[in-house]
Amino acid sequence: MLLTVQNIHKTYQTADGPFAVLRGVDLTLDAGETLALTGESGSGKSTLLHLIGGLDTPDQGHIHLGELDITTLDDNGRAALRRGTVGVVFQQFNLIPSLRVSDNIAFQARLADRYDPLWDATLAERMGLTPHLNKYPEQLSGGQQQRVAIARTLAPKPRLVLADEPTGNLDEATAAAVLDLMLELVSETGAGLLIVTHSTELAGRMSRRLHLRAGQVA
Ligand SMILES: Nc1ncnc2c1ncn2[C@@H]1O[C@H](COP(=O)(O)OP(=O)(O)OP(=O)(O)O)[C@@H](O)[C@H]1O
Ligand SMILES: [Mg+2]
Repeated sequence: MLLTVQNIHKTYQTADGPFAVLRGVDLTLDAGETLALTGESGSGKSTLLHLIGGLDTPDQGHIHLGELDITTLDDNGRAALRRGTVGVVFQQFNLIPSLRVSDNIAFQARLADRYDPLWDATLAERMGLTPHLNKYPEQLSGGQQQRVAIARTLAPKPRLVLADEPTGNLDEATAAAVLDLMLELVSETGAGLLIVTHSTELAGRMSRRLHLRAGQVA
């Protein structure tokens, strides 16, 4: 199994006291599988994605990537994981403003020592970004920035791709095309794909669907 999430709990401390967002989440994902995670706004989808992506740690439970329990890793171990093994497309893109589009796309792959100019060019071409490679993120539309974020995540060919509303800023036709492309590219690299989405249409195109409600998935 590529990903095994077992009994994950996460509570945030807020001004009004502790708030339990995740209360025993279990899920699995195999290489080559595509999974849609739906759930109301505030149900904890991004929280769960960040835990699986090694950006945060759970209060309880285990997350295995293959044999490796990532909940036992320290900051350096989790950082190494994020460079090459797990790729995250963030809800807010998180592009680097001072870098051109081409360098944004290459950023993660270079850090991971997995930069492949041919693959980068392929990604840019297929994401429709070739005319924008020398621009800076602020010179792009929201939808173009979203596609840069997707290309950057796919550039190191991660084994697991996590995407938080990756088509949220795109019109319906572009969203469908970008999803097609993500599915194609992920299947070419044999990775697993977990997408957070509000769209039932998009969710319907994935091989499996899970819904997050009251801190658990079903
Ligand atoms: N760092 C934090 N500190 C305190 N509360 C937080 C923090 N991050 C998120 N929350 C709360 O946890 C809940 C889940 O947030 P999360 O961002 O995971 O939801 P989501 O399902 O991704 O929502 P959306 O669909 O709007 O993106 C929300 O109620 C949010 O206010
Ligand atoms: Mg979210």
